[in-house]
Amino acid sequence: MTEMDREADLFYRQLPKVELHAHLNGSVSFETMEKLIARKPHLNIKHSMTAIRNGQHRTLDECFQVFKVIHQLVDSEEDILMVAKAVIQEFAADGVKYLELRSTPREETKTGLSKRRYIESAIEAIRQCKQEDVDIEVRFLVAIDRRNGPEVAMETVKLAEDFMLSSDGLIVGLDLSGDPTVGHGKDLLPALQRAKNCGLKLALHLSEIPSQKEESELLLDLPPDRIGHGTFLHPEVGGSDSLVDKVCKQNIPIELCLTSNVKGQTVPSYDKHHFQYWYERGHPCVLCTDDKGVFCTDLSQEYQLAASTFGLSQEAVWHLSQQAIQCSFAPEAVKQQLEQKWAELRPRVLN
Ligand code: IMP
Ligand code: ZN
Repeated sequence: MTEMDREADLFYRQLPKVELHAHLNGSVSFETMEKLIARKPHLNIKHSMTAIRNGQHRTLDECFQVFKVIHQLVDSEEDILMVAKAVIQEFAADGVKYLELRSTPREETKTGLSKRRYIESAIEAIRQCKQEDVDIEVRFLVAIDRRNGPEVAMETVKLAEDFMLSSDGLIVGLDLSGDPTVGHGKDLLPALQRAKNCGLKLALHLSEIPSQKEESELLLDLPPDRIGHGTFLHPEVGGSDSLVDKVCKQNIPIELCLTSNVKGQTVPSYDKHHFQYWYERGHPCVLCTDDKGVFCTDLSQEYQLAASTFGLSQEAVWHLSQQAIQCSFAPEAVKQQLEQKWAELRPRVLN
């Protein structure tokens, strides 16, 4: 590494960052994964089954197989607490000052894990990190896995509602994710509408694959508070002007995960990433990792990749990270504290 590279690297690490799209089980680091594998040797899982290294690619379907393997390793309250604490600490060490972590509550009869205890364990991890003065604000989004259909989605919304009222504001919203080739968004509309009515914010994976125009139209009419990926919304890749209009008119921020999309092969290469389409239009864009463990990346690296691919100045990069504060689901007071933090750090980081 040259001196200039080292300096650039330092800038991206020191840059205060906001992470809004991180799936808990996809974010488990190499080190934590080693611990989990050692705890459960009988599963005979190799690290190569849980991570996609640089230069490697997988089909989207293969990516979802990876999550199945990780779920075998993370199946008890202790596992969730351990994994969530480690993930929060790692984001903090990477210079992330505000994190919205999302995860799909699971029940596991083998270990007596219930969906309620699943969420409680994640909340406990957030509380413990706060107590230990880890320098990061964390909020949680309860995820709906679209594979599980409308009844489970409704159950999940009710659970999220309960927790929204009892978690001291730590649960702020709902995520819709899972294999985009399975199920149809229209069946999930009642659950999502209910969530919205009770004040949960909506972050929905949208148009992650081509040919979801009809579903995306329906979901955009809710409307969601943020869009995950939105890879195939614009007409140049088979989307439509009407979809783009809806996103622009409602000014819905888009969470963009470069490495995830390249390694998952929904985008052919970094320079063809739809970041450019939305960024050029001045649309609110938030760089995120999606699954930092599975895709072997971190948020500093994603900022660096975006900057080098699309020729962003340090000033532009700073603006990008600061803009993400306003796209978060944090209450106004927290947003103000974050703005303050950015203002304090600016002279030290930007030169
Ligand atoms: P978990 O919800 O914490 O268990 O994180 C893993 C889950 O997140 C996966 O099983 C998927 O449902 C979801 N997920 C992670 N990455 C993606 C993605 O790129 N698209 C859709 N769903 C995803
Ligand atoms: Zn995602």
